[in-house]
Amino acid sequence: MTDQELIKLALDARKNAYAPYSHFCVGAALLAKDGRIYKGCNIENSSYGVTICAERTAFFKAVSEGERQFDRIAIVGGMEDDEIPKGYAFPCGPCRQVMREFSNPKEFNVIVAKSTDDYQSYLLKELLPHSFGPENIY
Ligand code: THU
Repeated sequence: MTDQELIKLALDARKNAYAPYSHFCVGAALLAKDGRIYKGCNIENSSYGVTICAERTAFFKAVSEGERQFDRIAIVGGMEDDEIPKGYAFPCGPCRQVMREFSNPKEFNVIVAKSTDDYQSYLLKELLPHSFGPENIY
């Protein structure tokens, strides 16, 4: 699975975004270490705080299916009228912490993309330095 193929799946996932309040549509494609892929989109709610981000949708789908180890995630987000997003959609803080729970921040890659040939890739440790994780509780 190339980065570009994973971005294509995130673009597909974005089409299912339910964002009638913010009109900001996000898609994510999460690659597990076993090669399986879990897609997610943001799902908003009229009770705004109940909204879930695309990244956590993908992670919670995967973890609820028994996955525990992950390789990479691709994220695409932008206003619904922009077929090609104007900016890179970086994951919010709570989503970064969920990624931290289920990955090694020195190895897990977060790809933020506008298209399959316009993207950036970061290690989770760059986006969430000095993080708190499972190994801190013993
Ligand atoms: N959103 C995501 O899906 N992922 C993020 O990391 C940031 C924000 C969604 C939540 C909400 O539906 C919309 O984008 C605007 O905040």
